[in-house]
Amino acid sequence: SPSTRVSIIGAGKVGSTLAQRIAEKNLADVVLLDIVEGWPQGVALDLMEARGVERHDRQIVGTNDYTDTANSNIIVIAAGVPRKPGINREDLIKINARIVTQASKQAIEHSPEAILIVITNPLDIMTYLAWEAADLPKHRVMGMGGVLDSARFQTFIAMELGISIADINATVIGSHGDLMVPLPRYSTVKGIPIDRLMDAGAIDRLLQRTRHGGAEIVELMKISSAYFAPASSACLMVESILFNQSRLLPCCVYLHGEYGVQDIFLGVPCRLGSRGVEQVVELELSDTERAAFIESGKLVAENIEEARAMLKTAS
Ligand code: APR
Repeated sequence: SPSTRVSIIGAGKVGSTLAQRIAEKNLADVVLLDIVEGWPQGVALDLMEARGVERHDRQIVGTNDYTDTANSNIIVIAAGVPRKPGINREDLIKINARIVTQASKQAIEHSPEAILIVITNPLDIMTYLAWEAADLPKHRVMGMGGVLDSARFQTFIAMELGISIADINATVIGSHGDLMVPLPRYSTVKGIPIDRLMDAGAIDRLLQRTRHGGAEIVELMKISSAYFAPASSACLMVESILFNQSRLLPCCVYLHGEYGVQDIFLGVPCRLGSRGVEQVVELELSDTERAAFIESGKLVAENIEEARAMLKTAS
């Protein structure tokens, strides 16, 4: 049978780190595509040479040509400008909307059966635009946000309690941004809700840090945003899909009535398998949690409208 292939559009920090994880975990062959000539070819050659040490047989190809991505099982969109000082939110949306819609469309033309995973920020908006541009059934398009936000929350819980990260599960839903909705009630240490193990003040501190997890890293790194944890998070989604694992992961998916919202991509727990989004799991939410979720959706919906208008005037 033909080998499994994941194509990553955008061979920057996130894209190339994800390529490394996929190849070195022996999950699939990888095609790295970037707009800059020579860059993805160089990254791919470097990763191929690492095989001399890592001893795996996965192929990593770098290209500027979408025909080389043909027949991929999964397309990952990691192209765009990252969040950085000196670029405002509106410009970021405008630039990335253009890149993401073109990339999704071209990639899916060459891999019509693929599942599409979007990483480019602002995530919930970009995932919606990618879905429209690629014209795919909703279960085959998703964004990577919740896995990363949950991973950050889990990390902070582990650090606070001094307990192994292996025993910690946290859930974060809503948009992948300031209005994300971390759910302490669904966050546990080996099944024990975290409010039994720390006081409200401590939980609140960890929630705040989770909400600003991306910003905290940009503040430190200055000229880059996070890429190790984002690449690990996307890799987990890729693995669950390729191996039909049915992992239950918070992902940015199309909602049409679930959680009381319509026609929007937002983060909620999903089962990920070979068909893509196999199921959206509806958690029981308190009034406050539900209100926060709906609030995050409102902002995303407004931003989508803005982005659509920008795309129209720019073309
Ligand atoms: N087609 C293909 N690649 C493109 C295009 C395009 N039209 N436009 C830009 N790129 C490439 C750039 O050349 C660069 O190599 O996308 C890559 C982006 O890489 P980085 O600048 O290193 O950004 P990175 O940190 O990887 O973040 C990428 O992921 O987490 C999000 O917010 C982050 O939206 C950002 C994205």
